[in-house]
Amino acid sequence: MIKPVEWLDNPGIVRLLDQSRLPHRKVFINYSDYKDVAAAIKEMRVRGAPAIGVAAAYGIALGAKNLEANVPEVFLERLEEIIKTFEATRPTAVNLFKAAGQMRAAVKYGASPEDIKTALVQQAISLHQKEEESNISISKSGAGLLGSGATVLTHCNAGSLATAAYGTALGIIRFAHNQGKKISVFSTETRPLLQGARLTTWELKEWGIPVTLITDSMAGHFLSRGNIDCVIVGADRIAANGDTANKIGTYTLAVLARENGIPFYVAAPTTTIDPSLPSGKEIPIEQRKSEEVTHVQEVGIAPEGTQVQNPAFDITPHRYITAIITERGIIREPFGEGIKKAT
Ligand code: MRU
Repeated sequence: MIKPVEWLDNPGIVRLLDQSRLPHRKVFINYSDYKDVAAAIKEMRVRGAPAIGVAAAYGIALGAKNLEANVPEVFLERLEEIIKTFEATRPTAVNLFKAAGQMRAAVKYGASPEDIKTALVQQAISLHQKEEESNISISKSGAGLLGSGATVLTHCNAGSLATAAYGTALGIIRFAHNQGKKISVFSTETRPLLQGARLTTWELKEWGIPVTLITDSMAGHFLSRGNIDCVIVGADRIAANGDTANKIGTYTLAVLARENGIPFYVAAPTTTIDPSLPSGKEIPIEQRKSEEVTHVQEVGIAPEGTQVQNPAFDITPHRYITAIITERGIIREPFGEGIKKAT
């Protein structure tokens, strides 16, 4: 099994699979400086909400491990700087902020810097293990929604690469496939960074699951022709009322699914739910650099100086969502109540 995010204990290294190079090159990078791990998150060498959380947790443990401050107050001050560096990498996926919060919570009052270093490594490992467990539960219950012969449309990438575990949206598909159900997938290419074309097709091929790649603009055509039985996507942040932030283009798919009477499922661990935000309106949307739009894989496609907008995520209002599949059960309308119970 591929390990997109890994902690190597001696001397303390974060190893990441560089997702920006996939599918053509499988390059693993060993990081011994936490600032480089934070940069890797920003540059999307590691991406996907749960995987960002796991990578940040290991990055914080790494930064703490290398701190040379022996005075507890100085150590804690520097640790806070490290945590804040990670919190400034990507704003939308709430998993990052929850992971940072859990790392802060691992610091016991009065503990020595050496004990805190050990506790932080253990906390990061435990957070990663929990991600794996919840991915399996999501995949198992979500697979129950798929009949044999189903064709699923998915967007972006919500597999092992995005979770550093079994996968969420793709985990469901993988679980159903492993149960012997004949599942096939339509993957949108997911402009601008092509996570669908580069990563989802690659993972599904590795798992032996038939996949058809389409451009984002073809989705309406296939959804209206009876080719697709359901849509399953991941999430970056889910508000208390069920409104969901996910990769740009998700909202369009949800509206198209509703128009064509096709179920639209969101698969996500409860670490992706942010009950502190009443609705999707309050979810911060990351704006990324214009080169991602004016270029495809570093080749310019637009006249120089073209004005660009590049929001990385959009919000799908909960009324378009058939169900949210979590490790604590499948939540349906009224989402507010189900989310309250699950979090
Ligand atoms: O910008 P990315 O590639 O980090 O965005 C990823 C997504 O939008 C995924 O669908 C989401 O994080 C769920 S991953 C299980």
